[in-house]
Amino acid sequence: MIYQGENLSVRYIADGIAELTFDAKQGSVNKLDKSTLVSLDEAITALQQQSALQGLLVSSAKDAFIVGADITEFLGLFALPEQELAAWLTKANDIFNALEDLAVPTISAINGYALGGGCEFILSTDLRVGEPGARIGLPETQLGIMPGFGGTVRLPRVIGADNAMEWITTGKNYKAAAAQKFGMLDAVVPAEKLRDAALAMLQDAISEKIDWQSRRQAKLSPLALNQIEATMSFNCAKGMVIAKAGPHYPAPITAVKTMEKAARCGRTEALALEGKYFIGLAQSEVAQALVGIFLNDQQLKGLAKKASKNAQNINQAAVLGAGIMGGGIAYQSASRGVPAVMKDINQAALELGMNEASKLLNKQLERGRIDGLKMGKILSAINPSLNYEAIANCDIVVEAVVENPKIKAAVIQEVEQKVSEDTIVASNTSTIPISLLAKNLSRPEKFCGMHFFNPVHRMPLVEVIRGEKTSQETIDSVVAYAAKMGKTPVVVNDCPGFFVNRVLFPYFFGFTRLLQDGADFVKVDKIMEKQFGWPMGPAYLLDVVGIDTGHHAGAVMASGFPERMSKDGEDAIDVMYQAERFGQKNGLGFYAYTKDRRGKPKKDADPASYDLLKQICNERYEYSSEQIIARMMIPMINEVVRCLEEGIIQSPAEADMALVYGLGFPPFRGGVFRYLDTMGLDKYVALADQYADLGPLYQVTDGLRAKAAAGETYYGKQG
Ligand SMILES: NC(=O)c1ccc[n+]([C@@H]2O[C@H](COP(=O)([O-])OP(=O)(O)OC[C@H]3O[C@@H](n4cnc5c(N)ncnc54)[C@H](O)[C@@H]3O)[C@@H](O)[C@H]2O)c1
Repeated sequence: MIYQGENLSVRYIADGIAELTFDAKQGSVNKLDKSTLVSLDEAITALQQQSALQGLLVSSAKDAFIVGADITEFLGLFALPEQELAAWLTKANDIFNALEDLAVPTISAINGYALGGGCEFILSTDLRVGEPGARIGLPETQLGIMPGFGGTVRLPRVIGADNAMEWITTGKNYKAAAAQKFGMLDAVVPAEKLRDAALAMLQDAISEKIDWQSRRQAKLSPLALNQIEATMSFNCAKGMVIAKAGPHYPAPITAVKTMEKAARCGRTEALALEGKYFIGLAQSEVAQALVGIFLNDQQLKGLAKKASKNAQNINQAAVLGAGIMGGGIAYQSASRGVPAVMKDINQAALELGMNEASKLLNKQLERGRIDGLKMGKILSAINPSLNYEAIANCDIVVEAVVENPKIKAAVIQEVEQKVSEDTIVASNTSTIPISLLAKNLSRPEKFCGMHFFNPVHRMPLVEVIRGEKTSQETIDSVVAYAAKMGKTPVVVNDCPGFFVNRVLFPYFFGFTRLLQDGADFVKVDKIMEKQFGWPMGPAYLLDVVGIDTGHHAGAVMASGFPERMSKDGEDAIDVMYQAERFGQKNGLGFYAYTKDRRGKPKKDADPASYDLLKQICNERYEYSSEQIIARMMIPMINEVVRCLEEGIIQSPAEADMALVYGLGFPPFRGGVFRYLDTMGLDKYVALADQYADLGPLYQVTDGLRAKAAAGETYYGKQG
């Protein structure tokens, strides 16, 4: 035994050959957390003192090699003063350099994931061999940072600058076979032969059959590109990366610039550049928001896992209504292994639903994500039906018929009679309170809301709504079912609009009021998209949702919360609705929709909608972008805060994830609570107070005011 630490050990396994094995004591995976780095340092120091050493094999005793650094430590680390963060980076890099500089050849035998720091680790050995299930990549830019343990230095020197830029800026991970093609792996061998193959390769290096010294030298030297090649590569990458990531996500472009600056440098200088730019990113608000989202997502996954322990088994589902939503839900369920009956009262609707499912599956087939067999299996797991017999043996029925409280209540009551006592009934209503729909049910404890978002296959969120009488077992079962469908469930309490629509409509009311006060909807859309970062501005979003849907839901919200959301007189949504401008669905809304020459949908501001808006809007006024953002966002933010204070949503983390996953709230802002924490609650209160005379939607709650006065944040200290 050369070294024994908490998470790794080193021992001689043959003459002169040592094996360093990662085997974390706690948890199921190896991570490069602070304590593992300390052990690694000690292990390498011990190896440096072995005069008999001829070669080093590195392996993992877990199912994965190293999944990366420990992201739960990130926010704490990134909040350190710059010098301390720099010292942590330097220390980690000294360890990796010491491994790279060992006097003997080194090889990593990679099983499963080698991501982030794990990928940077294997780059610091001379050789790399993987099994077919190995997955390798540098996902750091997805968290708003970039590799900081030498990834931007070693990867371009191992697989070439263009490939390295692709790996690092996309953050994708690559299967073993692909990684081998890139030159990241020297060989791919069956899992059971991994260790033997690695040892054989190491022997070849020891006996100089493999020239490991020149590989090592390449990693210590400037990039092997001449000036013209380098200029071409980096300029081309910069253009592409800026266009793709946009101005709100600085990490990918910073990584490219770092690699460009370091192209002519040796390892020491190149690592210094990496450290400098890494720190700039790590201490940015964007990194804080994106790491926060990752941690929140982990928290939600943990909650879903806990719920599944108390859940009923759901092996057969049914969906009522084969419309946009019902069809999508049936497809999603079937494609994740839970067969679904799709019941409608209309044969044509059933055909449409099946066609939609086929279209989605065909796309996946074309992209090579599934094969014909899988497609057939999924399609046959959707069972269209016009009668109730088909749903008798279902474990859950998800109701997705038209958004009409009377029809819904009647349908749900009818369904309750057709299914067994154990069957859960859930409604996909967007706005109608669950307790209201449960009124005439004989088993209200088996009923809850299960609110999907459109398009179902793409939107990650499902709101699971607890009615007054819903049992915990029902909630846990629906949470587990949603998670099984590949969705992220968030449990919320009951009220009109639940959480997501309750906070979305104040934003729309802010929008219509802004138009009334003379703003141009095209400019508002532009600012909310380009500057705030929403995927669609409010006018465009209303057109996509459907002005008729927005009009109806707006009325439900106004009657649910009249003290804040009722309006006097007609607004822009009413005017569009009355003119039958229902949005994208009939080609006319705020915008007019046509197809361009390639048949792609195209939207143009329509003079006719300006004419209509003139009826209710004041003279045009040029608002600044700050004014537009404030007038649009304050109503939403205040309502989000109210939902937390009223217990509609349980935590800032769940609220932020519901906003990001359900509405596309800009991830680089992390969600409303992260946004408030970043801005400072006192600054937000001061800003909102400037707009308080616009009405109750603009008035901050006493709770928020008190938190601001106490200098608190919503997330507290993390990491
Ligand atoms: N479209 C969205 O963006 C969206 C998003 C979230 C939630 N929702 C909610 O989902 C529900 C469905 O919306 P949609 O957009 O899919 O509507 P849709 O009009 O596309 O589909 C409704 C379907 O229900 C069928 N139907 C009507 N009465 C029925 C009955 N008694 N039994 C069985 N089927 C019946 C209709 O034939 C139709 O096919 C609504 O409650 C809506 O508020 C919609």
